[in-house]
Amino acid sequence: MEKHTNPWWREEVGYILYPESFKDGNNDGIGDLPGLISKLDYLKNLGVGMVWICPIFSSPMEDNGYDVSDYYAINPRFGTMEDLKTLLEEAHKRGIKIILDFVLNHTSKEHPWFQKALKEKDSEERKYYLIRKGKWIDGKLYPPSNWGSFFTPSCWERIGDSDEYYFHSFGTSMPDVDWTNPNLRKKYVEIADFYISLGVDGFRLDAVAHLAKDMSFEDSSLPDEDGDGFVLDPSKFSNRPELLSYLKEFREEAIRGRNVCLIGEVGGSIQPSEGVTFANRHHGPLDLLFNFDTVWNNGNFGSIGKKDEEIVTNVMQLKHNFTRWYDACHKECDMPLYWCNHDHPRVLGQYGSREYRKESAKALCLTLLFLYGTPFFYQGEELAMDNLVEGSIADFAQDVGTKDSILAYRKAGYTDEEILSFLRRSARINARSIFSWENAPYGGFSSVAPILPQGKDYLEGYDAHTEELDPYSVLNFYKMAIQIRKQKYYNDLVLDSQLEWVDWNHQDVIAYLHRGYQTIMVVTNMRPYQVYFTFNFQIADILLHNYDGVLLNNHVLTLRPFESFLFVVK
Ligand code: NOJ
Ligand code: CA
Repeated sequence: MEKHTNPWWREEVGYILYPESFKDGNNDGIGDLPGLISKLDYLKNLGVGMVWICPIFSSPMEDNGYDVSDYYAINPRFGTMEDLKTLLEEAHKRGIKIILDFVLNHTSKEHPWFQKALKEKDSEERKYYLIRKGKWIDGKLYPPSNWGSFFTPSCWERIGDSDEYYFHSFGTSMPDVDWTNPNLRKKYVEIADFYISLGVDGFRLDAVAHLAKDMSFEDSSLPDEDGDGFVLDPSKFSNRPELLSYLKEFREEAIRGRNVCLIGEVGGSIQPSEGVTFANRHHGPLDLLFNFDTVWNNGNFGSIGKKDEEIVTNVMQLKHNFTRWYDACHKECDMPLYWCNHDHPRVLGQYGSREYRKESAKALCLTLLFLYGTPFFYQGEELAMDNLVEGSIADFAQDVGTKDSILAYRKAGYTDEEILSFLRRSARINARSIFSWENAPYGGFSSVAPILPQGKDYLEGYDAHTEELDPYSVLNFYKMAIQIRKQKYYNDLVLDSQLEWVDWNHQDVIAYLHRGYQTIMVVTNMRPYQVYFTFNFQIADILLHNYDGVLLNNHVLTLRPFESFLFVVK
């Protein structure tokens, strides 16, 4: 397998972009490619060198584009193939690489393959999907197995009133395809080839962990904790051994040594040692691998019924998760770093603080940026955008991933007030809210009301225009921080020197250093209150800091809420 020895993404800072809420170019309330093209200079000025764009292919948008109905057409709400070509051209002019989100675990049920599969039992397309007979027990029909899906209780959806079911690991409108079928695999190679020939620089392979299933479809023996008859058992369709050979074949046939980056989404059930096999620098089929381990380290996930005050960042767990991936990866493979994406709440509400909004947003930026790996920021993080703190049930129910769970929580007896306080801090639509461009109607996103929910950031001084003009804004802090990280000396230091944690056992502080000709050290208070940190170093310089003045007395650093430093130390 041919892999590049000094890949371009090692020098880049990435940006995760959700096109529907980024910028509306034709004023119909929906973000689109012309809107995005008009804001490329904003991304360039931020210092971003690669942009992963969430799905833009034709789709009925049941799961916001992750349900593709035509891989060779751009969803008209986002634009045309011509717009994509213009985007590639204009982005490349500005030194920005474009990564497309590529869904190859499932299609939309509206995809012509699936429609034909349903209609013609002998068709080639029928073999692209996982269609199995249900089980008759005492005259009653049951799904082929007790496997649960990510979005609905069962992985199986009955086909009409037949005794057959199709398999879906996510929503019912997203049937999974059968990767054991070589003809199907070839289809995906052709699609990738088409977009690489167009000039696309890489793909983020959606839900790639799930391509291989346990084809026996035997029942899971895990306990059915909620008593609905189904269990979500990752061992049945996540990171299974067959996956490696599918991905190797895909890389060899689709990439063919071209300088294209393959980023896999491998999810929560993978161990770092397995991850290294997938992303190994010399023989791994993928280049970068998104795990979920550093995303929910505060008890927020599934925290229905808990009070907001109970959601507290577990700093030790965060450090532990960063370090176990670092230990496994740094010699063997590159690694993406991120706080959140379009599937999570905003990081400000996750590990940051509304009360210390600027301080915490800056602290999170700095802390992530100098860890080993390729950093990716999620759109709006650079402005300190917040969750939909006033979002309604209707706002949250716009997401297929949340809609069913609202019904389930009501059925379980939770009040709408309890459900709302949970969703306002944890639902993924929080991060999909409308980008805050300026203090103008609809935040400058569009001249008409956006279809996705919009927070109040632009009314609170957290918008791109206002922040551009303020030298102390979060946005300008991001720009400075990215500029430093991208300097060759610091980039090499971060990627090539050993990462050393400082005062590892400190429960409130993340502190680490990289030793070199110039040794740099990050110290961040992750709490909304003052803490102390013993500091046995000599400060040679302060490259970045989110407060004025240094409170250092007798080797004790007093750290104010979310105070964060990038020091040069001796
Ligand atoms: C992961 C994507 O990030 C998420 O948004 C989507 O719902 C699932 N995969 C299904 O494609
Ligand atoms: Ca539009």
